[in-house]
Amino acid sequence: MKIVNTINEVREQVRAWRREGLSVGLVPTMGYLHEGHKSLIDRSVSENDRTVVSVFVNPMQFGPGEDLETYPRDMERDAALCEEAGASLIFHPEPSEMYEKDFSSYVDMETLTGGLCGKTRPIHFRGVCTVVSKLFHIVTPDRAYFGQKDAQQLAVIRHMVNDLNFGIQIVGCPIVREEDGLAKSSRNTYLSPEERKAALILSQSLKEGRRLFDEGERDAKKLQSAITEKIQSEPLAKIDYVEVVDWNTLEPVEKIEGETLIAIAVYIGKTRLIDNVLV
Ligand code: PAF
Repeated sequence: MKIVNTINEVREQVRAWRREGLSVGLVPTMGYLHEGHKSLIDRSVSENDRTVVSVFVNPMQFGPGEDLETYPRDMERDAALCEEAGASLIFHPEPSEMYEKDFSSYVDMETLTGGLCGKTRPIHFRGVCTVVSKLFHIVTPDRAYFGQKDAQQLAVIRHMVNDLNFGIQIVGCPIVREEDGLAKSSRNTYLSPEERKAALILSQSLKEGRRLFDEGERDAKKLQSAITEKIQSEPLAKIDYVEVVDWNTLEPVEKIEGETLIAIAVYIGKTRLIDNVLV
């Protein structure tokens, strides 16, 4: 497995693979890899001849006061995980490699990005769409792999790929959880032991929502209230949002009829965590 820092090195390597007729999968990440990322790499390795993992903490998707500086980083550990999972190349650029001084072109989306996480993170998806577009142009993969945990991101990227005719298959992969139910996230490392326990309220409240749905509840407001109440029972939790939305449009629904996303964002202390379930 190679680790490269420049766009030219990635291009050269991918061109060489293409000459051999090999297929290429891309797993875009911000590093500090965990079992969730590993499941994406595993899937890519099983579906492509070569897998590229990008490790880049993208400054453009962090708003003022967010955790860009403190976002956890451990390249040595990331490299070991990628190697063990069978990745062929890590692309680990400096911000200056991705964004030249006079950078001024962005990929923005008018739908899907205003609600859910977009409400409190207004520039986030512009940063995500821009960097993912750049990665797609640099790596030119056949397939790219994203986790269902960032459900809005997955929906936005699918929409972008369709709008802009990238011709890349977007593969959404299931949420990977700790044994006790907490969705794996690089940001879980911010939690104190007490907060780590409190964070279980996210998966537990969604489980409650799922149970009510399975028992026949289709009224979105009722599901929303039950989940909200459950989260509020945890003193360390502060709700950012609890939303029941159409999985294609991400617009709120009143009655659950088609594929529906129940998505939550909750502060546990200072750490903002997200989780969701598709029903
Ligand atoms: O999900 C992430 O880690 C990031 O948003 C992504 C897709 C790598 C873009 O920076």
